[in-house]
Amino acid sequence: MAGKKGQIREGSVFIRLCSRVFYNPEMEFCRDVSSLCVGAAGGKLSLLDAMCGTGIRGLRYKKENENVASLVLLDISGHAVKCARRNAAMNKIRCRAIQKDVCEHLQTHSFDFVELDPFGSPAPYLYDAARSFREKKCGWLSLTATDMAVLCGAHHAACLKNYGAVPLDNEFCHENAARILAGKVVLSFSPFNLLASPAFTLSHRHYLKMVFRLQQGASLAVDGVKKLGFVSYCPGCCFRQAKRLASLERCPHCNHLMQIAGPVYLGELWESPLVERMLEKNSQRNYKSAAKIERLLKTMIEENKIGGYGYYDLHVIAKKFGGRIASMEEALERLRSEGFEAQRTHFRPTAIRTNAPHERIVEIFSNK
Ligand SMILES: C[S@@+](CC[C@H](N)C(=O)[O-])C[C@H]1O[C@@H](n2cnc3c(N)ncnc32)[C@H](O)[C@@H]1O
Ligand SMILES: [Zn+2]
Repeated sequence: MAGKKGQIREGSVFIRLCSRVFYNPEMEFCRDVSSLCVGAAGGKLSLLDAMCGTGIRGLRYKKENENVASLVLLDISGHAVKCARRNAAMNKIRCRAIQKDVCEHLQTHSFDFVELDPFGSPAPYLYDAARSFREKKCGWLSLTATDMAVLCGAHHAACLKNYGAVPLDNEFCHENAARILAGKVVLSFSPFNLLASPAFTLSHRHYLKMVFRLQQGASLAVDGVKKLGFVSYCPGCCFRQAKRLASLERCPHCNHLMQIAGPVYLGELWESPLVERMLEKNSQRNYKSAAKIERLLKTMIEENKIGGYGYYDLHVIAKKFGGRIASMEEALERLRSEGFEAQRTHFRPTAIRTNAPHERIVEIFSNK
């Protein structure tokens, strides 16, 4: 949205763009949702926007949320820091703006909330982020990963290299991507006796946004690691099984060879009470995507109730089981009328999440 001449309005701040400083207007939606999450986190937060670019994220987080007590904007680029400082002054937002490498800064400073918004994968920054929280009882880590293709299995070797995990290139690859990223975060934080648990997960276009709640404690960290496992998937009939150790070589339904991916995080991807608070905050803000955000957050709350691993895509079901493609409403109704829970998933508009067992799904959708 245009502001005064040469300015851009986003959320409740105005910024000026600067040459050689990155700004993607398409990420406004992500910043809206992330700002709601910062507010819903509560407490009094010292916040680091560690890859600030124009400063838009950190500035919005502070301006839109009373619980952000202090803000540091940081970037390795001198152009970005100058730009962010100017944007902070223009919005009369008190903060420090520092030109430094994020890893170097995190070695000697700690914050309650760390925002990492890199180009591509956040994996190279996780170790220093984890170290920075080692003296804290609790905290928050917010990550953007724009290497969705890698996490979704387009480049197996790159996923192994960045995340130490084997990906899956199938219909629920976006959820799998979030679970690979979460697994990597859990394993990066556990050696520092920190439990990292996903509080919020968004898959949108080419990126993932995940926010983790961090808690100090050796036994908590062990509990987190115990939530890691592997997922087995049958490309013949879409059967999937998620367990701490993969044990199936062949599909129990069609005898096809199983594909195995992981390690992945098997626990919940959202804290529903946090998402409820985000929903409430969204209703009090004038974001231009407010209606879309409301639908998104409500879907997340519903899909979290069903839980489980992965979802079923209506097009893939029709292709594999021989039936016609059911409409979303019809598919949900068929499952519900058989006594199962069924909901949309925010990960994919043509997919459903259900607690129906695989063999019942095959029966319900075959040849209809
Ligand atoms: C995707 S952009 C950030 C966008 C910004 N957060 C926004 O919402 O518009 C990534 C930024 O990270 C900065 N960056 C890259 N490596 C860095 C490092 N090691 N330490 C600090 N900043 C870094 C880049 O200069 C760039 O401004
Ligand atoms: Zn099978």
